[in-house]
Amino acid sequence: MKTYIYIITICLLLIQNQSLASTRIINGSIAKPTDWPWAVSIAISDFSTLQGAFCAGSLIHPSWVVTAAHCAKNNINNLQVILGRHTLSNENTGETIKIKKIIKHPEYDNNPGNPLADIALIQLEKPSSQPILRVAETYNKLDNNNSLATVIGWGLTDVKDKSSISNKLQQTSLPIISNEICNAPESYDGDVADSMLCAGLAEGGTDACVGDSGAPLMVNTAIGWQQVGIVSWGESCAKPNFYGVYTKISSFHSFITQNICTAEEIPAIPMLSVKIKQENVTVHWDNIAEADGYQFYYAPYSEPMTEVTFNNINSFPLKDNNINVTLDNNVNFYVAVRAYKGNCYSNYSNLGTILWEN
Ligand code: ARG
Repeated sequence: MKTYIYIITICLLLIQNQSLASTRIINGSIAKPTDWPWAVSIAISDFSTLQGAFCAGSLIHPSWVVTAAHCAKNNINNLQVILGRHTLSNENTGETIKIKKIIKHPEYDNNPGNPLADIALIQLEKPSSQPILRVAETYNKLDNNNSLATVIGWGLTDVKDKSSISNKLQQTSLPIISNEICNAPESYDGDVADSMLCAGLAEGGTDACVGDSGAPLMVNTAIGWQQVGIVSWGESCAKPNFYGVYTKISSFHSFITQNICTAEEIPAIPMLSVKIKQENVTVHWDNIAEADGYQFYYAPYSEPMTEVTFNNINSFPLKDNNINVTLDNNVNFYVAVRAYKGNCYSNYSNLGTILWEN
């Protein structure tokens, strides 16, 4: 009799565990209601928000949401964007805003398997009051391999159950995987383009899934969370070797900023100067009153300058309008800066050169 009870409890525990495992993004957890205030749900307005929700996105400007192009349906009249809501069925929370216009990336190729340039910008009919998410700047290289990232969404929590759309926002953390590993023969065998990135575990188990499309993949940085990816595609969900594939936001940074920022929102261009005293270098630039901060760029000095390419330009954000560095022997740099406000950037400052003098 005792053994029976044991077996029954063990079975119950196993069943419980199973259902626990299938109540999240795919094996994630319920987000804290205040953690992701820029998360948005995109829904068909004829239904309740829980039934109508089909994709997600992120607020990157008071009037603009970024999502996947494959989420951008043509008839915008029966679509709505839901902001500031954690539990979809709580219709009295957050904001519901209609759509003014959708800009799909011109290179989006509508390929259902592995869409290229799977990014679209949604302009809201009126600005939202939710906080915005910063998107990764091209040269910041926040999408490095092995960085830990977080994906959120209201999508399927069980790939076999089409009704498993989550009422509450879910999240899971995943490492970013190199395109080389993701394109291996046992994985996507070359289908992952340079403008895509992969995140997940080789053994599978946790992933975004259907319905999470358009949602942000984010990394935490010194200046807060920044978006590095957009949920785009994958072979099933959470399968070993088949990582989640995301649109690489940094590849589309200028597409985003060129479309969402009005002339008045673009900060003034700072003028930069370099002072060198032996190995002590101070780079200083104008304080721009309207800016939230500055993006600082540096690249190894080369003559001619054409050798400065994507791979050797780096950038990082700074709050102050100067930086002090100590130079190593014979190391020479180009430097420049841009002022930013939200996701809107000024043009580049003049180019400074830091040349080692002996
Ligand atoms: N295309 C899916 C959607 O429309 C998202 C797929 C993401 N899949 C994955 N395994 N990460 O919702």
